[in-house]
Amino acid sequence: MHSFFKFPWILLPLASAFKHPHPDDLINGFKNAVDCDGCHALLVPLKALAELGDSAFVDTLIATCKVLKLEDPDVCVGAISQQGPILSHALRGISPFGKTATKLCEGTFGLCQPPAVNQYTLPLPAPGPAAARKPTASTGKKTPFQVVHFSDVHIDREYAPGSDSNCKKPICCRAFADEAVPPNEPAGPFGNRNCDSPAGLAKSMLDQISAHHTWSIFTGDVVEAAVWLVNRSEVTSDIGLFNQELSAALNAPVFPAIGNHDSAPVNNFPLDTATGKFDAQWVFDLEGKQWRHWTNRTAAREVKHFSGSYSVTAPGTNLRIISINTVYWYKQNFWLYDSDTPTHDPRGILEFAVKELQAAEDAGQRAWIIGHMPPGSQDVFSDQSNYYDQIVQRYRNTIAGQFFGHTHYDEFEIAYSDYESRGADTAVGAVWIAPALTPRSGNPAFKVYDVDPETYEIMDSKVYFSDMKNPKYQTEPEWKLYYSAREEYGPLVDLAPTAPLNARFWHAVTEAFEKNDTAFQRYNEFMTRGGHVHPCDAACKKVAICQMRAARAENNCHVAKPGLTFGDTERDDPETLMKNSAPPAPAHPQSQCEGAGIGHLLSQLALKVTSGPGRESSMADLRSRLEKIIPVPRAVDEL
Ligand SMILES: *[C@@H]1O[C@H](CO)[C@@H](O)[C@H](O)[C@H]1NC(C)=O
Ligand SMILES: *[C@@H]1O[C@H](CO)[C@@H](O)[C@H](O)[C@H]1NC(C)=O
Ligand SMILES: *[C@@H]1O[C@H](CO)[C@@H](O)[C@H](O)[C@H]1NC(C)=O
Repeated sequence: MHSFFKFPWILLPLASAFKHPHPDDLINGFKNAVDCDGCHALLVPLKALAELGDSAFVDTLIATCKVLKLEDPDVCVGAISQQGPILSHALRGISPFGKTATKLCEGTFGLCQPPAVNQYTLPLPAPGPAAARKPTASTGKKTPFQVVHFSDVHIDREYAPGSDSNCKKPICCRAFADEAVPPNEPAGPFGNRNCDSPAGLAKSMLDQISAHHTWSIFTGDVVEAAVWLVNRSEVTSDIGLFNQELSAALNAPVFPAIGNHDSAPVNNFPLDTATGKFDAQWVFDLEGKQWRHWTNRTAAREVKHFSGSYSVTAPGTNLRIISINTVYWYKQNFWLYDSDTPTHDPRGILEFAVKELQAAEDAGQRAWIIGHMPPGSQDVFSDQSNYYDQIVQRYRNTIAGQFFGHTHYDEFEIAYSDYESRGADTAVGAVWIAPALTPRSGNPAFKVYDVDPETYEIMDSKVYFSDMKNPKYQTEPEWKLYYSAREEYGPLVDLAPTAPLNARFWHAVTEAFEKNDTAFQRYNEFMTRGGHVHPCDAACKKVAICQMRAARAENNCHVAKPGLTFGDTERDDPETLMKNSAPPAPAHPQSQCEGAGIGHLLSQLALKVTSGPGRESSMADLRSRLEKIIPVPRAVDEL
């Protein structure tokens, strides 16, 4: 405890000095941040530090990151200078002991569990006669058409063949100044599991796609995950290059969504509180303009005015594509922690989805919702996930599919009309999640859907991949059919020949997984396309099946843990996390998407201060550094 409390009689005259954070308050705060109460207590000196200004806040966290060796020094400096001011802004706006603070303690440190959902009934138009009209069942006679779904390309324009692919940073295969000479393992031209995609790999995939599709959906994350280095000019150039490459390689429309990496700093999608360099309007202006030749003038205006969201009717169909920016529901978007008053619908994304679904219902259309972050995963705020679920319930007869990326896994989530009784009869919505291109999370892959031309439901989903173990991979990646969902899972659930792969079907598949471990283990391998497979035992399987049955985040069974903030708790080993300053391999999907952002660093901090090696001497070192950044006020010294 701070020595102040031994002299309570002098507290009053020193009220202003007390607000000034003392290095010991911070160090004790770090040391005691082992549980949810400790995290709330730590927010007191962190908030006081934020009140001193962004630079004191940023410098303190950088010193802490360096001394505790949470990452390489350049990573500490880059990640914290970029995202630190957002966190500092958030802390100034909230009470250290409120519900938002609890969310922050979960989202960054993994030290609290998420608070119960803030119950709220989203205003929704009453269902009219059109709502009850079930979409006509497919006659099953018309030939399905093909739509390609690809995601999380994470193209690294600085990928350098021959550079070290086995470095200590979150992303390798770049000519870093402190690179090992000679390299531990030189990077090949078409990618490596420790690195993001070289441009040649993306080109190879796009050349394949053009053979398969009518049109495509792309669910976001163009930019690489060296998040400590990205800036606005890099993101602008990365987005522009990729949009050009899409146009050149594909001779049909692409309907994209915005990813959390498609801004600078990473995850920077402010509410209305941001100014100057944190404004993200430039992303929407850029994408609105560059996507326009696949959409239309109305959609381009929507992208600009609805924070990246738009809606458009797919050519030659009666299907409305509604692309929404789900990064406003993302726990790593620190702008969302800046008030104790909840914002139910940040930037009106839910309202936009409702308006477009109502228009589709009125017009007798069906709709696909596309976005980056899936609604049921552990890194979504359970409030917005719950409100989104209300929309899915209301428009269940209009929505024919929901398509997302972000986790880097080939997986699915199911929405139910009654989460208390999750069964085939209550399953009302299927969420399709595409595998990533980036080799960081498995073999590069994309999906091709067979779409019923009358109902727009999915009749089959085929995953194509390029096996990095193939000796020819580094010369010319070969793309092959990996599996067909209908062939793989149909026989397990006696699927009728004309039945779609809908929510009912996927629920039956989860029941088959419960009974048949061989089938589940194949699914587990498919998630990463057979590359860096995470072993999954009985306890892990339970959580995995629970996640499949949760398009609503509050039902996904994940438990927050320090260092594993967004991890699949059964798959990650805290010991491994402790030993490595870089994310361990295999790492969990969300941290792979996230990269070494400040959230990742802080979740490491909670582990390092409690059990990191050489803890006492590093604490002494940290204290002397902090004294230089936040000089102890004279009045306190004299005590
Ligand atoms: C932005 O990042 C790129 C690539 O890392 C770098 O070359 C450039 O100098 C940076 N620009 C600014 C203004 O910092
Ligand atoms: C763009 O497409 C939407 C939906 O397909 C349609 O309602 C709108 O009128 C179109 N706008 C233009 C300018 O063509
Ligand atoms: C279990 O799943 C495997 C793999 O899909 C399949 O080959 C096998 O027939 C299934 N067993 C039963 C009893 O359904």
